Amino acid sequence: MKFFIDTANIEQIREANSWGVLDGVTTNPSLAAREEGSYKKILEEIADIVDGSISAEVIAQDYDGMMKEAHELIEISDRIAVKIPLTKVGLKAIKSLSDEGVDVNTTLIFSPMQALLAAKAGASFVSPFVGRLDDISSMGMKVVQDIRTIFDNYGFDTEIIVASIRHPMHVYEAAMIGADIATIPFNVLEKLFNHPLTDIGIERFLSDWRRANKQF
Ligand code: E4P
Repeated sequence: MKFFIDTANIEQIREANSWGVLDGVTTNPSLAAREEGSYKKILEEIADIVDGSISAEVIAQDYDGMMKEAHELIEISDRIAVKIPLTKVGLKAIKSLSDEGVDVNTTLIFSPMQALLAAKAGASFVSPFVGRLDDISSMGMKVVQDIRTIFDNYGFDTEIIVASIRHPMHVYEAAMIGADIATIPFNVLEKLFNHPLTDIGIERFLSDWRRANKQF
């Protein structure tokens, strides 16, 4: 499973990238709004740091505007995947951009049928938002499971990015289902390292070593 980081914060991206397991980055307008500088400048910096797919979202909600912004975004790097929400207009743009060979990450997916529409239009990625579904007492991971089944039934190669991840169990469940990618906030990525027995184990090894006054 690929790990993307879900942030536009350069320090977090730099730090996560240094761990050696980062495959890409996803951003959105809310994440970019928290950072200094223009969206394009932020994306340029991200492209310099991470050697992988970088999702950048259009702001326009009309077809011409989406196409114009998409073309500006892919000028920044050939690794940009254009994020487009699953609306009727969005689907038209997804189809046109996919026909041009542009990677599209269909965002704000909340049902298997929305994912099927995006895959049929040729999207490279679909992003089901599991946390936001869980927030309204729906089963986010059931949507991911259903999308996996549908894509496997028909051999779609559209990759599933599990998005809106809130905690390590979301990453675990995504991996068990066989989702292609999890896009993970920095604080959740950090939590993946944690196990109290690891900390206790290190402490015990070191205290035994010190007590014996051993040479390395
Ligand atoms: C995905 O690409 C989105 O950026 C993100 O996962 C949204 O998550 P949120 O529900 O925490 O805003």
